[in-house]
Amino acid sequence: MRMILMGPPGAGKGTQAPKIKEKYCVCHLATGDMLRAQVAKKTPLGREAKKIMDQGGLVSDEIVVNMIKHELEENSECKNGFILDGFPRTVAQAERLDEMLKSKQQTLMHAIELQIDDGLLVSRITGRLVHPASGRSYHKIFNPPKETMKDDVTGEPLVQRSDDNADALKKRLVTYHEQTSPVVGYYQKTGIWKPVDASQEPGQVWKSLLTCFDSKT
Ligand code: AP5
Ligand code: ZN
Repeated sequence: MRMILMGPPGAGKGTQAPKIKEKYCVCHLATGDMLRAQVAKKTPLGREAKKIMDQGGLVSDEIVVNMIKHELEENSECKNGFILDGFPRTVAQAERLDEMLKSKQQTLMHAIELQIDDGLLVSRITGRLVHPASGRSYHKIFNPPKETMKDDVTGEPLVQRSDDNADALKKRLVTYHEQTSPVVGYYQKTGIWKPVDASQEPGQVWKSLLTCFDSKT
């Protein structure tokens, strides 16, 4: 399985991707999680990225392409395939991904777009809680942790992402529509694009995703 999962902030990429990872034994590469790991380590790249992320912009194509390239080459979990979450986000990134795969005589099998109206995303984003170390996410109302503000697996504290506020979300949505919607168009021209209604409850979104993977078209 080699696939990408697209969709605006809060569409459910990070909620569904771990389920795909588990079912197909592939690696889950989320450029947002990788960048947040750099921010947490306070590396020079992390410091630079944090400013851009908090403003809802995109870090440079070069940085994220190199991160993905490195993982695809070095991460043993990626041997069976991969699910890319939050990448590619510009047409230039999509073209670089095509080049990377071509050099390995590989192709993408699915480009899934999680579709949802912007109006539904504010409550999802402002209610999200995350476990920074694992990237696991919860929601105060829609998917609360068993114990208040604690990760179900480790018991460690949950936090809010610094870009999870209404102002930053507005900018992230503008960025999505301006720079990432063309990527959806890029894959629509191929035979591998499939839309999924992401406004459904998470279990139903998962069922719709499975239908995409089973479909031979
Ligand atoms: P990134 O981390 O990728 O953020 P994003 O794309 O804005 O997406 P989110 O993580 O906010 O949403 P999600 O779809 O994963 O939603 P989730 O499943 O958690 O990127 C962050 C930043 O990094 C970017 O802004 C950019 O600056 C930079 N960056 C990253 N990649 C880059 C790239 N390739 N190039 C350049 N820059 C890059 O769900 C959200 C909430 O809703 C959760 O609380 C969840 O529990 C809840 N929820 C999920 N599904 C449902 C449902 N069906 N019903 C009800 N609630 C639900
Ligand atoms: Zn995410």
